[in-house]
Amino acid sequence: MTTAPPLLIRNATLPDGRTGIDLLALDGRIAAVGAALAAPPDTPSIAAAGWLLSPPFVDAHFHLDSTLSHGLPRVNASGTLLEGIALWGELKPLLTEEALVERALAYCDWAVARGLLAIRSHVDICDDRLLAVRALLEVKRLVAGYLDLQLVAFPQDGLLRSPQALTNLKRALDLGVDVVGGIPHFERTSEQGAQSVKLLCELAAERGLRVDLHCDETDDPLSRHVETLALHTQRLGLQGRVTGSHLTSMHSMDNYYVSKLIPLIREAGLHVVANPLINITLQGRHDSYPKRRGMTRVPELLAAGVNVGFGHDCVMDPWYALGSADMLEVAAMGLHVAQMCSVAGQQQCFDAVTVNNARVLGLEGYGLEVGCRADFVLLQARSPQEALRLRAQRLLVVRGGRVLSRMAPATAELALPGRPAGVDFTRQAAG
Ligand code: FE2
Repeated sequence: MTTAPPLLIRNATLPDGRTGIDLLALDGRIAAVGAALAAPPDTPSIAAAGWLLSPPFVDAHFHLDSTLSHGLPRVNASGTLLEGIALWGELKPLLTEEALVERALAYCDWAVARGLLAIRSHVDICDDRLLAVRALLEVKRLVAGYLDLQLVAFPQDGLLRSPQALTNLKRALDLGVDVVGGIPHFERTSEQGAQSVKLLCELAAERGLRVDLHCDETDDPLSRHVETLALHTQRLGLQGRVTGSHLTSMHSMDNYYVSKLIPLIREAGLHVVANPLINITLQGRHDSYPKRRGMTRVPELLAAGVNVGFGHDCVMDPWYALGSADMLEVAAMGLHVAQMCSVAGQQQCFDAVTVNNARVLGLEGYGLEVGCRADFVLLQARSPQEALRLRAQRLLVVRGGRVLSRMAPATAELALPGRPAGVDFTRQAAG
């Protein structure tokens, strides 16, 4: 790609509350951030009009191989995780590489328009053809100019439970898949689950790769694979490179055990990714009332110093019929489910779909500091809290100093006697 032209953003508000800030992008990088910046002559400028300028959204947990397949070959009647896995098994033999690529690219278009510029996607390797792996590697190549796609080799049917899974997982890594995945709670026994965690961590250590396991995605409080994940992470020196995704069993665990577990997670430097939309939808399905929410213990993990991100997980697939690549919707669900409604709690939920997820992926040059890549999104809101409340319009999406997407401000034309014709949904809290 040729060098990006200079770009000046005038008068933005930043997520940390600073107002009246200009940002200058030169050669695709952030060259200056501050009030009343001078720019080289003829630099094109965009008036931010006080709107919120944020680093782009990042999704730390997604399934790009199954997205937009809702209804193929049928819908999930029970709404459970297990029927979703069975349904995906029915669909797999019917997949074509062309259709996988087409759907994934369509989703990436949605993502960019929503200011979502980096996605970690799991890709199912339990198919001897590795059709989805090849398709998503091609998609990664095609979108590289505008979206960072990180792929996780994911043995959906179980690493030890599915006969060719380990071989296929290694083949996928050889082809260029970035991260080692797993699903210990879906192995035949707890013992085999623990064995899979050990094996996968050792494989990652050998190859110098990161690990991201679907871990304890169950309402069973005795599903404790995260403690094994913490053990091997610590034993192999993988701190900061390993993620436990879901950890929904923690929702149902005994409080005493959790008081031991959270410090172990912190000690191992594990990242945790909750998937609020999917957890609230799939967990608690065997409960009558009261029904469990199922999401892991987000505020408690954050309070212990653990990096917690939020993922979208699914959009229009065998597990979830809704979604539109909107990470503000994900964060808003997270803050409701975790009751993180305070100003500080909302800020943490905004961070969970931006900076925290960037840490999970290990993105370099992410942020609004000088020297970072000039990637950002202008939101029609005055603060992260307002962005969450409104699922704010993405007025402008920029990557490497180039404008990728523009969206008109949200408003309405009113016809009310004695009232203004337009409506402004933004409003700051009094006091
Ligand atoms: Fe997932």
